[in-house]
Amino acid sequence: MTALEKTALRFEQLGVSAPQDIAASFAELHSLAAAESAQIHGADSLESFRVKWLGRRDGICSRISENWLKAAPPEYKKSIGGGLNELRASLEAAIESAKSSGADLATGPAIDLSLPGVERPVGTHHLIRQTYEEVERIFMSIGFSVVEGPEIETPYYNFEALNIPEFHPARDNMDTFYIEGSGGHLLRTHTSPMQIRTMEKQAPPVRIVVPGKVYRRDNPDATHGYMFHQIEGLAVDNDITFCDFRGTVEHFVREFLGAKVKTRLRPSYFPFTEPSAEVDASCHVCGGEGCRTCKFSGWIEMFGAGMVNPAVYGFVNYDPKRLSGFAFGMGVDRLAMMRYGITDLQVLFQNDVRFLRQFP
Ligand code: PHE
Repeated sequence: MTALEKTALRFEQLGVSAPQDIAASFAELHSLAAAESAQIHGADSLESFRVKWLGRRDGICSRISENWLKAAPPEYKKSIGGGLNELRASLEAAIESAKSSGADLATGPAIDLSLPGVERPVGTHHLIRQTYEEVERIFMSIGFSVVEGPEIETPYYNFEALNIPEFHPARDNMDTFYIEGSGGHLLRTHTSPMQIRTMEKQAPPVRIVVPGKVYRRDNPDATHGYMFHQIEGLAVDNDITFCDFRGTVEHFVREFLGAKVKTRLRPSYFPFTEPSAEVDASCHVCGGEGCRTCKFSGWIEMFGAGMVNPAVYGFVNYDPKRLSGFAFGMGVDRLAMMRYGITDLQVLFQNDVRFLRQFP
């Protein structure tokens, strides 16, 4: 039996012969009620406090009134009634103050607002996104702007207008995903279609870079995926020369890999550039001595590029006699792997946080 129940029982048994106990008993109840109200925490405990003391049927105040006050001889009724009113008033005041202090809202233990908060983990940009932003930053700082285009393309933009006619062998090398029932639409195999879309819409000069996903029917392995990331570049103006091309490429490579890195151009072939080149950088890890990163050649293959083939201007109504320019297309996954010494392309797509956390 709790102390409170004992007191309540004594009240019920209290005879009219013990008037001196009236004040003492009420005092005891007051202190019990005060101790309990200090423990109120949350709406549920407030409600059970109220029911226990002030509940109409079985609350302690009702029981005092029913069992004791009613039966008391007239000369005690005044002090019992007065004591009961005081008790009720102080219970009501305790309930009000619990509400206004917000104790009725708390559902858990009291909160210490002076404690430091719990730090929430904040995500970071994926390594691919970080690499895109770095490349974009370098080109934006020399006057290029960033545009994006559709991943579902027509053969016209992906091939035709880039000087790759229907039976050109270059189409086979691209391992294209065609979309069934789409009337010939495909997943773009490179970001170059945006060269055409941009020049169609915009009069020269053009200076753009185009980040985006591209798709090819490759079996996934350490260096291949059926989707990867490119960033295209295109600059067309009245008097852009091969020197501008080379200077821009060199500037980019130095910004991206470090001031000591050298570049070299190797002859290559793309239908939409003429001449075409493969851009190599001297190995940023060994400085050209030969190491695992450069496969002991001292050079790292960076990206394909070249002077825009005048045939392409014909598709966008640009005047090939007046205009010239250069274009490049970089594999962003490759750039990221090279820069951070990653040997397996797939880790970029598995989203294992143990990998991702290494690039905050
Ligand atoms: N589109 C080419 C590819 O995906 C890269 C490239 C872009 C080459 C622009 C030259 C100029 O392989």
